[in-house]
Amino acid sequence: MTSVAGWMARLGLLAFLAPVFVACNFAGDTDGLHWFMGMHDSHAVEAQEEDYTTLNDLKGDDWQYGMSSMPSFGGPGSGMRVPPEGSVPRGQEPYPYAAGEFDAAGRELQNPLPRTREILARGQDRFNIYCAVCHGYTGHGDGPVTPRFANVPSLMSAKIKNWRDGEIFHIITMGRGRMTPYAAQTSVNDRWSMIHYLRVLQQQEATD
Ligand code: HEC
Repeated sequence: MTSVAGWMARLGLLAFLAPVFVACNFAGDTDGLHWFMGMHDSHAVEAQEEDYTTLNDLKGDDWQYGMSSMPSFGGPGSGMRVPPEGSVPRGQEPYPYAAGEFDAAGRELQNPLPRTREILARGQDRFNIYCAVCHGYTGHGDGPVTPRFANVPSLMSAKIKNWRDGEIFHIITMGRGRMTPYAAQTSVNDRWSMIHYLRVLQQQEATD
């Protein structure tokens, strides 16, 4: 194809492909050629982005957007902030007892849930998921991971039958020794439901 029409076709193809090649170019904070920038970059500060409102305070005009002007992650100039000390996430209450404070938790925490059929069913469901692997489905310390995970105590002992609800809540929330905390996996109400269920088991099962 050496005709004029052939060259025209090649030129046409090049013109058509040009934006594709140009779009592979990038600079600064843009990742190619963008035609309509109007709504391209949100004003909201995104994670790992500079927060220009505080960069202005910090550096005056001596910074450039997208050029890593921020001094460090989490500090002023960074979009990712460390929450001020004492901040509490919405919908959450801080847990006031340190790991060793079984006695205070036992005295002050009461099970707020009624012992209804639904709550016991929920408690059984959660207990069988989170506790039974180690403590056993009937709580005798003989769950499927034993004896490879040795010395899992029975929850049917006189000791635990005499523990206050708050102490059991505390060990589920904070863990102890080789038992990790289950606060991340279980809601507060689920923990109290499990305690109701555990009490029913303790009434039915012989003391170890
Ligand atoms: C990974 C295995 C494992 C799981 C799962 C587990 N525990 Fe434990 N639990 C242990 C071990 C091990 C101990 C002994 C901890 C220690 O050495 O201080 C313990 C201790 C306890 C004690 C105190 C027993 C005593 O005699 O002092 C209670 C109460 C208890 N667990 C309740 C629960 C409840 C309720 C759950 C479910 C939310 C649960 N555990 C889940 C392993 C586990």
